[in-house]
Amino acid sequence: MQLSHRLYTIARCVPRGCKVVDVGTDHAYIPIYLIKEHIAIFCIATDINTGPLKKAKLNMRLHNVEAIDLRLTNGLKGITVGEANIIIMAGMGGCLMIEILQQELDLVKSMEKLILQPQQDVHRVRKFLHAIGFKIENEEFIEEEDKYYTIIVAVQGDEKYDKAYEYVYGKILIEKRTQLFKDYILKKQEKLSMIYSTISQKNSKQIDKRKIELEEELKMHKEVIKCIF
Ligand SMILES: C[S@@+](CC[C@H](N)C(=O)[O-])C[C@H]1O[C@@H](n2cnc3c(N)ncnc32)[C@H](O)[C@@H]1O
Repeated sequence: MQLSHRLYTIARCVPRGCKVVDVGTDHAYIPIYLIKEHIAIFCIATDINTGPLKKAKLNMRLHNVEAIDLRLTNGLKGITVGEANIIIMAGMGGCLMIEILQQELDLVKSMEKLILQPQQDVHRVRKFLHAIGFKIENEEFIEEEDKYYTIIVAVQGDEKYDKAYEYVYGKILIEKRTQLFKDYILKKQEKLSMIYSTISQKNSKQIDKRKIELEEELKMHKEVIKCIF
């Protein structure tokens, strides 16, 4: 079974022999792959909507996979401690992920690993993980169809970052200094500078507020650029 680059990168973060809960599974491609490749011994796949679960069931049949427990539920509701040791959440907003994790904190704290791919608000997810007693073990940064994605792997442990930019851009991604990440930072710097120069001549309460935000962002960017080049 061939996964997309994003889904394959997520699947590669899963340790062999584990029990997985994939929240917001939709097509269930990740759990199907994990079972077929004998990476996971058991998977629970949840979704809040019936449509995606029907799709998941169909895909399970297509790929001849049975060991996935499909559950119609909100986030992690109804999953009990011990049923799984890895949570995967991908393709959702960071704030929704935080809400889902926050609602079942005891269950979350019983997990060995959280593998998260937030679509937005990645910095909030990093902060939240530190706040609930998880440390960030690894991050992957990939590009698929002209979009960038960050995958965070967190394990239990105490950790705090010193610098605000480490939460915004990812301390591990800054340390890894991959070419893709460098390209992304440079493109973003260019975009921010262009917006700043466009509005710098204008004045209004709203524009002045935006200018201050942009100055702050550009300052952080410069610090990251200093670290990665
Ligand atoms: C964009 S899809 C992502 C699918 C897959 N995880 C991926 O990364 O390709 C988001 C899925 O999350 C489901 N979803 C949204 N809110 C949810 C919640 N609170 N609990 C469970 N599933 C949810 C949606 O129904 C949808 O199927």
